[in-house]
Amino acid sequence: MRVVLGVAGGIAAYKACSLLRLLTEAGHDVTVVPTGAALKFVGAPTWAALSGKPVSTDVWSSVHEVPHVRLGQEADLVIVAPATADLLARAATGQADDLLTNVLLTARCPVVMAPAMHTEMWDHPATQANVSTLTERGVHIVPPASGRLTGKDTGPGRLPEPEDLYAVCERELARSAAASRAVASADSAARTTTSADAAGGVPGHRRGDLSGRRVVVSAGGTREPLDPVRYLGNRSSGKQGHALAVAAAERGARVTLVTSAAADLPGIDVVPVETALQMREAILQAAAHSDVVVMAAAVADFRPANYVPSKIKKTHEAHVDGSADDSAPTITLVRNPDILAELVQTRGGSATPVIVGFAAETGDDNGSVLHHARSKLERKGCDVLVVNEVGEGKTFGSDDNTVTVLQRGSDESVEVGPATKAAVSDAVWDVVATLL
Ligand code: CTP
Repeated sequence: MRVVLGVAGGIAAYKACSLLRLLTEAGHDVTVVPTGAALKFVGAPTWAALSGKPVSTDVWSSVHEVPHVRLGQEADLVIVAPATADLLARAATGQADDLLTNVLLTARCPVVMAPAMHTEMWDHPATQANVSTLTERGVHIVPPASGRLTGKDTGPGRLPEPEDLYAVCERELARSAAASRAVASADSAARTTTSADAAGGVPGHRRGDLSGRRVVVSAGGTREPLDPVRYLGNRSSGKQGHALAVAAAERGARVTLVTSAAADLPGIDVVPVETALQMREAILQAAAHSDVVVMAAAVADFRPANYVPSKIKKTHEAHVDGSADDSAPTITLVRNPDILAELVQTRGGSATPVIVGFAAETGDDNGSVLHHARSKLERKGCDVLVVNEVGEGKTFGSDDNTVTVLQRGSDESVEVGPATKAAVSDAVWDVVATLL
């Protein structure tokens, strides 16, 4: 894929060398476009040697090739790392006074910017206003990391590690490739109204709308061990939770995914867990610094009261005379903590984090799926409840889902699907975004 790596004039420019390395080693065709100030930190020969391409900062080199237009038009991805306060300001006001700002004006591909600067500059209302403007226009802003800055001071402003930026690039490239395939695919139009989103493209109004937000998503069914080889579990595959995590990351959030299902999701902080108790600990820890928590996991309500450290045998010597006992063991269960309820309780009267629950309902003689869901929403006290009807052949392990999204204090409901779990995720984030 064709990538333009823009580098603005900040000390973190040296980290862009490693990012360039990762991109070229992955087989991408990378053109580096530094600003004049960037060359004071890392010289043109370094960029040229690492990218294998000539490097220029202004629009006056190789004019016959019209690089100020061509580079942006032909790129599959533009990433600016580091993006300084000055670069953000010039990009937000649409200036075109060097090659990089020209590329930004002509690019129609995904644009990622990773700001890096001193905390005071990052916090300044002017910088924040520029970031908001760029975000609204669809630029994916990767928020700066916190830590040691150039001098002795610490705070938010560090350029994230090259591996993390590389992961963001790969995700954006994968999305735009999927979006192009979706456009080319004749039958994509025949699918549900939201399937175009699910197929890969984040529509402009959504791109970056979760930028700077910290999101925690739980996924999968917990496994409650009985002995070293057996557990009590459920049929949840984790697919919906993983789709929610990916959708949030694609909309710009920093995502922690606490999951019992295996996941290798670049750019997402994955915390693997198995039991409800492990999940509770990981979620409460991550939730303390988050804007949104989505409990998509199927947490076991009960666990065996006692874990038997060696395998439970079918027959065991139980009698004083040494004769075998063939009777089936009785398993005593104890209740697991209700993580969702605990999140609501810990939050107290505060509006953050926004808490989203899931309800798997079957409906019964006492009421319909929606009846049970509305009373669960009130009982649990979360802000949003995503309801799906489960049962034979429905939802578990499938790539599609049909849900109703309910909001506390509102009679309105949003029905989604049947649609892919990616499309369902975007519909859930659409509702959550209005609460942030
Ligand atoms: N949940 C949780 N901790 C538990 C059980 C459930 O955090 N111990 C969360 C789930 O992740 C989900 C929501 O609570 O977001 C609803 O789960 P569900 O199993 O439908 O609700 P329960 O309260 O267990 O009610 P039910 O009696 O219907 O099983």
